[in-house]
Amino acid sequence: MKLGVLISGRGSNMVAIAEACAAADFPAEVAVVVADTPAAAGLEKAAAAGLATAVVEPGEFAHRGAFEDALAATLAHHGAEGVCLAGFMRLLTGRFLDQFPGKVLNIHPSLLPAFPGLDVQQKAIDHGVRFSGCTVHFVTEAMDAGPIVLQASVPVLATDDADTLAARILEQEHRLYPEAVRLFAEGRLSVAGRRVLVDSD
Ligand code: GRF
Repeated sequence: MKLGVLISGRGSNMVAIAEACAAADFPAEVAVVVADTPAAAGLEKAAAAGLATAVVEPGEFAHRGAFEDALAATLAHHGAEGVCLAGFMRLLTGRFLDQFPGKVLNIHPSLLPAFPGLDVQQKAIDHGVRFSGCTVHFVTEAMDAGPIVLQASVPVLATDDADTLAARILEQEHRLYPEAVRLFAEGRLSVAGRRVLVDSD
């Protein structure tokens, strides 16, 4: 399966996916990495890994719909069949999602449905939860609310600040996202209401 990976920043999850894709038996390849800003540090990492890159900036379009059309056209141009959001800091509407129905994944650094949105490591600490983690989910129009594919948990320690917790979670993200992409690319995921069924024959 050809993948388009959308980033806004550092791109460490993009790198984790690309590294997994480099293995001979992995059922997916990264066709293009697209950023919504030329400042995304992940663009250089993608180029260094020999991946095609593109920048589609919302400011260059008259309205969000036109931006989403350009994003979808860029992905289609590179033959992307599936889309991985990897630190992509924008909500996507049906106008984009309908062009990749059931084919858009995201990773979020909390155990959803707890702590959707931003600054979620600090929110987890402030709330006093003993465990947090990460979630790979299918993307719907509602933020961080689509059907859950995989989750991994990590302990929240008394000594944690947002940075130490984020680092512990990120380590799991880099393991979990490629695992979810593998299941997705092998066609082993099906969605039944809110639940994602994994065919593990
Ligand atoms: C990750 O924590 C991811 O879960 C969240 O944004 C961060 C992106 O990090 N959606 P990176 O750009 O993949 O390094």
